[in-house]
Amino acid sequence: MKHLLGIKDLSESEIFSILELGEIYINKLVSNRNSISQNLREKVIVNLFFEPSTRTRMSFEIASSLLGAKVINFSENVSSIQKGESRLDTLKTIEAMRVDAVVIRSSIPGLPYLLARDLKNVHIINAGDGSHEHPSQALLDALTLKLKFGDIRKINLSIVGDILFSRVARSNILLMKKINNNNVMVFGPTTLLPKEIEHFGVKIAKNFEEVIEFSDVIMLLRIQTERQNSAYVPSTREYKKFWGITEEKLKAANKEIFIMHPGPVNREVELSSDVIYCDKSLILDQVTSGVAIRMSILTHIFSSKYQN
Ligand code: CP
Repeated sequence: MKHLLGIKDLSESEIFSILELGEIYINKLVSNRNSISQNLREKVIVNLFFEPSTRTRMSFEIASSLLGAKVINFSENVSSIQKGESRLDTLKTIEAMRVDAVVIRSSIPGLPYLLARDLKNVHIINAGDGSHEHPSQALLDALTLKLKFGDIRKINLSIVGDILFSRVARSNILLMKKINNNNVMVFGPTTLLPKEIEHFGVKIAKNFEEVIEFSDVIMLLRIQTERQNSAYVPSTREYKKFWGITEEKLKAANKEIFIMHPGPVNREVELSSDVIYCDKSLILDQVTSGVAIRMSILTHIFSSKYQN
């Protein structure tokens, strides 16, 4: 695996190999940090985030550091982009500094693919490209599910909220399809479902009752206002009522349902405050899985053992 650009490029065996090593790393991370080998000691990894991030940027930084790599955090607002340099020229310049990998987040769908084509000597890791893909998020979500349930192929997963603008939804649906899990349901305001949703090969819920009846796990998504140019929902109050999860709705379900969310959460919109860290919430498990899965991704990219 030279790059991680999108889930769509991974084979089923690559996905399971990343998850398997992620599971080894999470055990080391939680209980035996001294046993982590610093296999990336001579590597230089640049975090290039053109969009805000807490979880993805920090967990790539922690993962790289635990594996012994040097990490450079690029700051756009003090870079020559402010003097008009293009992003491609910036990347060419960074490549010429002989760095080994670039972790990139950008609002431009497909940018990591263009860079992988133009930059021959550097590994590219997509940390989210517009509303296209967020592959490391889908892998960390799958690791979280594997740790909780064992066999992720048997889980009924609902993804609820802004599917239209969500790279997380896209990558999670692609991953579940790749591993032959056909038990994925989506639900959201019709304005926030892609027109071509029927071609995604997922079930489409008509109401929340269908979601509750179907799900072992509900993954809530934030309304991605930063990618929207008009109002897609009537109000946050109505959104919470029809598409949000509250303690009351969970109790009324009368079955065990776990909650996931990629973060950041808009409290009292897609999730009420009493649910975010309740005993059915896997949100902080997702964050911990994020460090382990990114260690696994970096190891897969740099180790000859994992090259095809
Ligand atoms: N889930 C996710 O991508 O979070 P950040 O934007 O904080 O990285």
